[in-house]
Amino acid sequence: MRLISLYCVLATIASICMITNGYKILGVFPTMAKSHYIVGSSLMKGLAEKGHEITMISPFPLSKPMKNWRDIPTPGILEKTKALMDNIINLRSQGVIEALVDLFNMGLMLTNLTLQEPSVQNFLRSKEKFDVVVMEIFVNEADIGFGAVFDAPIVGVSTFGSNMWVNDMVGSPAPLSYVPNPFIPLTDRMSLLERLGNIGVSVAERLYNDFVYLPKQKELYEKMIPGDNKPCFYELRKNISMVLLNSHFSVGHPKPYVTNMVEVGGMHINRKTKPLPADIKKFLDEAKDGAIYFSMGSNLKSKLLPVEKREAILKTFAGLKQRVLWKFEDKELPGKPNNVLISDWFPQDDILSHPNVKLFITHGGLLSSMETIYHGVPIIGIPMFGDQFLNMARAERAGFGITVDYEQLSQKTLGDAIREILSNNKYALQIKEMSRRYKDQPMLPLETAIYWVEYVARHKGADHIKSASQALSFIQYHNLDAFGIILLAFYLVYRLIMGMLRKVFGLCFGRTKTEEKKVKVTNKKKKN
Ligand SMILES: *[C@@H]1O[C@H](CO)[C@@H](O)[C@H](O)[C@H]1NC(C)=O
Repeated sequence: MRLISLYCVLATIASICMITNGYKILGVFPTMAKSHYIVGSSLMKGLAEKGHEITMISPFPLSKPMKNWRDIPTPGILEKTKALMDNIINLRSQGVIEALVDLFNMGLMLTNLTLQEPSVQNFLRSKEKFDVVVMEIFVNEADIGFGAVFDAPIVGVSTFGSNMWVNDMVGSPAPLSYVPNPFIPLTDRMSLLERLGNIGVSVAERLYNDFVYLPKQKELYEKMIPGDNKPCFYELRKNISMVLLNSHFSVGHPKPYVTNMVEVGGMHINRKTKPLPADIKKFLDEAKDGAIYFSMGSNLKSKLLPVEKREAILKTFAGLKQRVLWKFEDKELPGKPNNVLISDWFPQDDILSHPNVKLFITHGGLLSSMETIYHGVPIIGIPMFGDQFLNMARAERAGFGITVDYEQLSQKTLGDAIREILSNNKYALQIKEMSRRYKDQPMLPLETAIYWVEYVARHKGADHIKSASQALSFIQYHNLDAFGIILLAFYLVYRLIMGMLRKVFGLCFGRTKTEEKKVKVTNKKKKN
C-alpha cells in the first residue's frame, strides 16, 4: 500500500515535470493526401509521446484519442477535393509544365479551403500562444502566417524533399548543374542536353512561382490570416527557423544544404515490426515460392484502374507461382486467382519486413520508396504523377527497380519485369546494400527531427542557425547589384582606355586628317 502511494506521488511529480518541460506545439498538415499526413503525424506523435502538448490542424483527426493531443479537424477539404483525387489517374499524361501549374493551382485551392474552415478561423482568433509551429511546406505559403498569429517560430517539414520553394524558405543553394528539378526524371549526373532541360524547367517554375503563384498566396494571406500589424507576406520567411526534409542522401543523392535544413527521411517508418494479422501471416508464411506485395499507395485507388489494365494485371498474377497481396479497395475483384489476396488496407511496413516478400509493385511514391529501401525489397514502379517518375528513375539507375510505363502496362510488360526481378539476384543484392547504407545513421530520423524541433523551441527560434541568405533579396543573393557595379567599372575603364588610345592615335595620324579637312574647309571658304 505504501509502495503504491509512493509510486503515485512519484508518478504525479513525473507528470508535472513532464508538463512543465513540455512545449506547446502547433502542427499544420493541411494536405488531403494521406501520405503527407503520415509523415507529419509521425513527428507530431513522437513529440506528444515526449510530453509536449500538441495541437494539430489536419483533415485527419485521430480515431483513437491520444495523450497531449488536440485535433483541429478540417474535414471540408476531403469532401471538396474528392473529385480531384479520384481523377488522379488521368493526370499522368501531362507534360512537366502542365503538371507544375496544376500543382501550384492545387496548392492555392488547398490553402484557400484550409483557411476557410470555420474551425481554423475560430482557432486563428483564439489568441493562444505556442512555442513552435511545425508545418508542412507544400504549396501553402499563406499558412506561414500561423507563426505571426501565434507569435512562434516555424519548423517547416517538406514531405517532398528539397525543391525550389523549400530552398527559398531558408536560402539553400541548388546549383542546376547537378541538382535536378524534382519534376523531371533526371538524376544528379546530367548530360548537356539534360542540363538544358533542367534549366528550362527551373526557369519556367521560377517565373510562374514569382509572378503568378506567390501573388495569389499573398492575396490569401492578406485576406484570410487575421491581425492588424501582421508582417508583410514576403517577410514571412524570416520567421522560419528550420526545414526538415523527408529525404536522405543514401536514397537520393548528395547536395548542399544550409545549416537549418536537415534530412530526416523515413521518420515515419515503423522501427518495431508488429505481428501481422493472422490471415496475412498464414498467407505469407505458406508462400514457399515467395510473395509479391502490390499497392499503388493511398491516393490512387486500384478500383479506378480501367478494366483492361486490371485484367492485364490479373492475368499476369494468375500465371505466377508466387502469392500476391493486392491493396484493392473493393470487396469483390471479379476473376481473382487463388494466389491473390485482396484487402483495402495492409500493414505495409510489417509486410515488407516478412522474409518471403520478394518484390513490391508500387507507384514509386517517396514514402513507399523509403520503406522498401529500409526493408530491402526490390521494386517495380508504375509512376503516375509528381515525383514518382524521379523516384523510379533513381531506383532504375541505382539498380534496385524497374519502371513499367502505365500506358505500356500489359500482361507482357508487367510479366517480363516481374520475371526479371525474381530471377535476377542483382536487384535484391543492391537494395539490401542500400538498406544497410540508409540504416547507418548516428540517430534515428524521428529522434533527429524531435531534437531539432525542441532545439528551436529551446533557443526561442534559434536565429543563430539561419544563414544570412534567408534575409537577402533575389538581387542581393545573386550579387546582381555587385556584378552591376563591376560591369559598370569595366565599362568606364574601357571608355577611358579608348579615349586615351584615340588621343594617342590622334597625335600620330588623326591630326593630319583633321588638318587636311581644315585646309579644305578654309579653301572652300576662300573660293566662296
Ligand atoms: C478563395 O476561394 C474563394 C471562394 O470560396 C474565391 O472567391 C477566391 O477567389 C479564392 N482565392 C484565391 C486566391 O484563389
